[in-house]
Amino acid sequence: MRRNKTQRKREFETHPLALVGHPHVAGRWREFLGADAPLVLELGCGKGDFLLQYARSFPQSWLLGLDVKKERLWKAATRAAAEGLSRVRLLRENILILEQVFGPQELDEIWITFPDPYPKKAHEDRRLTAAHFLAAYRRLLRSGGRVHFKTDNAELFEYSLMNIRSGPTRILSLSDDLHANPWLEPKAYFETAYERRFRAEGLPIRYVCFEFL
Ligand SMILES: C[S@@+](CC[C@H](N)C(=O)[O-])C[C@H]1O[C@@H](n2cnc3c(N)ncnc32)[C@H](O)[C@@H]1O
Repeated sequence: MRRNKTQRKREFETHPLALVGHPHVAGRWREFLGADAPLVLELGCGKGDFLLQYARSFPQSWLLGLDVKKERLWKAATRAAAEGLSRVRLLRENILILEQVFGPQELDEIWITFPDPYPKKAHEDRRLTAAHFLAAYRRLLRSGGRVHFKTDNAELFEYSLMNIRSGPTRILSLSDDLHANPWLEPKAYFETAYERRFRAEGLPIRYVCFEFL
C-alpha cells in the first residue's frame, strides 16, 4: 500500500524503531537500549541511507539517526525493520537540543552528513560545525570519540576546518575529494542520498574525521 505523507508521519510515531520526543534517558542510553555497545549518532539522517549501510557492516553497534522530518525517518525505520537491523533507532528530534537528549561522554561517534550549509553570515550559528556545536560534540563524546563530517560545499568545508583547527582537536583523516582517495576507512564511503546526487553532478565530496584532545 502506498502511503501519503500524513500516513507516513502518523505511522512513524508508533513504529518500533522510532523514538518521538526524546525518552529522557540522557546519560543512560545504553541502559535504555538494553545492551552495552558503541553508540553512533548521525545528525540529520534523512531517509537513513548512511545509517543502514553502517548497521549492516557493524551489527553490534547502536545506530541512532536524528532528524526533524518524520516522513524521512519513517522511510529509514521501515527500511531498517525490513532488513532486521534491530540496533537502529530513529529519533524525531531537533539538533538544537542535543545536550538534553544525550549525556556527557556518552557517544562514540558523531556523523554530520551533508548538513544545510547556511551560507549567510547572519545564519552562521546554525551551521553544524559552528564553534558552539563543536563544544557540544566535545562534551557528548567519550574520550577518543570521533566526529566525522561530509559535505559537497567547499565554503562550508573551509569554514569547518578553520573552527576545528582553532579548537583542542586532532585531525585524523582529511580529503577534499573523498572518492578520489579510496584508501580511507571504509565507513567514510557509506553513501548518503544527498551524496549520490552531488556525485552525479560531478561535485567532489569533502570529508574530515577528528577527535578532541
Ligand atoms: C541536506 S539533508 C541531508 C540528509 C542526509 N544526511 C543525506 O546526506 O542524505 C539535511 C537533513 O537535516 C535535517 N535537519 C535540518 N535541520 C535539522 C535540525 N535542526 N534538527 C534535526 N534535523 C535537521 C533535515 O530534515 C534533512 O533531512
